Amino acid sequence: MTERIVLAYSGGLDTSVAIGWIGEATGAEVIAVAVDVGQGGESLETIRQRALGCGAVEAYVADASDEFANEYCVPTLKANALYQGHYPLVSAISRPVIVKHLVKAAREFGATTVAHGCTGKGNDQVRFEVGIQTLGPDLKCIAPVRDLALTRDKAIAFAEEKGLPIETTKKNPYSIDQNVWGRAVETGYLEDIWNAPTKDIYDYTAAPEFPPAPDEVTISFEAGVPVAIDGVKVTPLQAIRELNRRAGAQGVGRIDVVEDRLVGIKSREIYEAPGAMALITAHKHLEDITIEREQARFKATVGQRWAELVYDGQWFSPLKRSLDAFIEDTQKYVSGDIRMVLHGGQAIVNGRRSETSLYDFDLATYDTGDTFDQSMARGFIELWGMSAKVASGRDIRVAGK
Ligand code: ARG
Repeated sequence: MTERIVLAYSGGLDTSVAIGWIGEATGAEVIAVAVDVGQGGESLETIRQRALGCGAVEAYVADASDEFANEYCVPTLKANALYQGHYPLVSAISRPVIVKHLVKAAREFGATTVAHGCTGKGNDQVRFEVGIQTLGPDLKCIAPVRDLALTRDKAIAFAEEKGLPIETTKKNPYSIDQNVWGRAVETGYLEDIWNAPTKDIYDYTAAPEFPPAPDEVTISFEAGVPVAIDGVKVTPLQAIRELNRRAGAQGVGRIDVVEDRLVGIKSREIYEAPGAMALITAHKHLEDITIEREQARFKATVGQRWAELVYDGQWFSPLKRSLDAFIEDTQKYVSGDIRMVLHGGQAIVNGRRSETSLYDFDLATYDTGDTFDQSMARGFIELWGMSAKVASGRDIRVAGK
């Protein structure tokens, strides 16, 4: 029987050419799998037909948009995960869900190998292959761009020679990856890290310099999950989409960073994640009133470690799973409403309320009705400073000798 290879298919030039390229190099049949993670753009049926037109023996589209929002974006939100304090893991969280569907398709279509279009320099090859090793340890991996010398020029020549139904003339200088959680743009002119991004780079966000009138929004959460916007019930996917639209119109969530790739390279990336950044801001502010101080401080450390693991392709690892359990436990009381103003590139919280809040007005107030006994503070401070005071006494004693 002819060997079969499942290819992660985007519909773009590289993966379209990869279908025939892999076929010629290996003699295998190629099954193209496109996964909908809310990337928008062309219809998935158009993409499916193109795969068939490029020689795939089967083409399969997995609608994973709700699954991606519920099982990948929501955990990222609960963790307030920002890699290096900036990047909400847009591409990093899409790889594991794509892997899940690739492995499923490999089983269904009797494939022995999974292929992806990543280069040998990035994080995504690692995320794909570590994921495949974990979910389908018997499956082999192949990356035509990395392993079969499929360069851009060769791809264009191949598409023209074979008359593939794909545009080869439109020259996009950027490498773009997008889904409902956000959009990532790199390469070309952006590789000079002093160059400011030009207007044409952005798609999810309008220029924050010329914003429309301020937009006030109320986001309701239940146990860390967004459940309503302005009182209207929403699914996580709908919440992200709605905030992509509203926060995007105000230019919220533009990020320009040089980040540390897993492979040891520093690289510049422009992100747009209006919905993600508005949601993370709101969620963090709700945690500020609903999570106890020590748990909150520790959770910040856990969230940072979680972001690093996910960035580094360890989505399916035991440590990530253990951190998930911790984060989930912290979300029990993260319920309530956050009101925020979206304007001119910023999402600024201006009100919060929660039935499970730890904010105690009577303890906090400086007005009458204060229930806090200030006389307790003196003794507390005496003991709190005792250890350092004893040590400092020793310093003076030793220095005097
Ligand atoms: N640097 C990001 C990451 O490693 C995004 C990778 C894909 N970016 C792109 N523009 N194709 O998660």
